[in-house]
Amino acid sequence: MGGGEKAALNVNRVSIAFRQRKNQLPVLKNISLTVERGEFVSLLGPSGSGKSTLFHLIGGLLTPNQGNIYMDGEDVTGTRGRISYMPQQPALFPWRTTLDNVLLGQENAPGSVKGTRREAREEARRRLDEVGLGKFADAYPYTLSGGMQQRAAFLRAMLSPQELMLLDEPFSALDELTRADMQQWLLQMWERNRRSVLFITHSIEEALLLSDRIYVLSARPASVLQVMDVPFARPRQEDITADQNFVELKHELSRRMREEKAKITAAWEGDTV
Ligand SMILES: Nc1ncnc2c1ncn2[C@@H]1O[C@H](COP(=O)(O)OP(=O)(O)OP(=O)(O)O)[C@@H](O)[C@H]1O
Ligand SMILES: [Mg+2]
Repeated sequence: MGGGEKAALNVNRVSIAFRQRKNQLPVLKNISLTVERGEFVSLLGPSGSGKSTLFHLIGGLLTPNQGNIYMDGEDVTGTRGRISYMPQQPALFPWRTTLDNVLLGQENAPGSVKGTRREAREEARRRLDEVGLGKFADAYPYTLSGGMQQRAAFLRAMLSPQELMLLDEPFSALDELTRADMQQWLLQMWERNRRSVLFITHSIEEALLLSDRIYVLSARPASVLQVMDVPFARPRQEDITADQNFVELKHELSRRMREEKAKITAAWEGDTV
């Protein structure tokens, strides 16, 4: 753990297998990774490799067969309520207004929220304004576009009192332009607030644009294939994607991912003969 500081998250040699009728399905094999405080770290890996399973372990919904999970140096293996989480779908409650959805993370962790309920509501209104949803604070989610719902869900995770945010493919359901807008928006919000983030994506470019470090996972059972430090200065602009260094790192990661995908395809073909 870098420089003796206590990392926001330290996953230490974690393995898990699921029981399937007679067999075991190994899903994660000896995974270790670190998110320092205020760092943005991404996980890239093929579909079905075990990325969401890793989030379920970090969130304490599952307990590993081997290994431990530490937050701020404390062993939290199997403990819930320590992270804020943004699932792949925005998952806003349709019967609550945008404002009441955004406040949900704080209601679920009442002991650790500072200030009064009224102050929390005022703060949430200010934040909604900042993300262009001020006029929609009292509207219901069905009147919001997909991108607006994503912003509300992100704000909910960000206003939750837990320091570590886990974001599971938050932009995968969006069209390309909305996605590019959301990436810029997230980058700005994060650079202003500097939370500790672990982010799952399938997009190499998205990972390079947003992250301080990228972990590339293998096909199932997932292990860490590569750890890449992303060297670009912050604040970052979208135009770094045209930088020669960016293009080279993108190629390097693409090659890795393609090799891994080829292994999966070969295994499938093996299954059918
Ligand atoms: N609770 C569970 N019980 C049994 N098997 C499970 C369970 N959760 C996940 N799996 C299996 O573990 C494997 C990894 O699933 P997981 O959802 O973690 O993959 P992923 O990397 O997030 O994939 P994707 O990129 O498609 O979201 C899959 O084969 C899945 O069927
Ligand atoms: Mg997943």
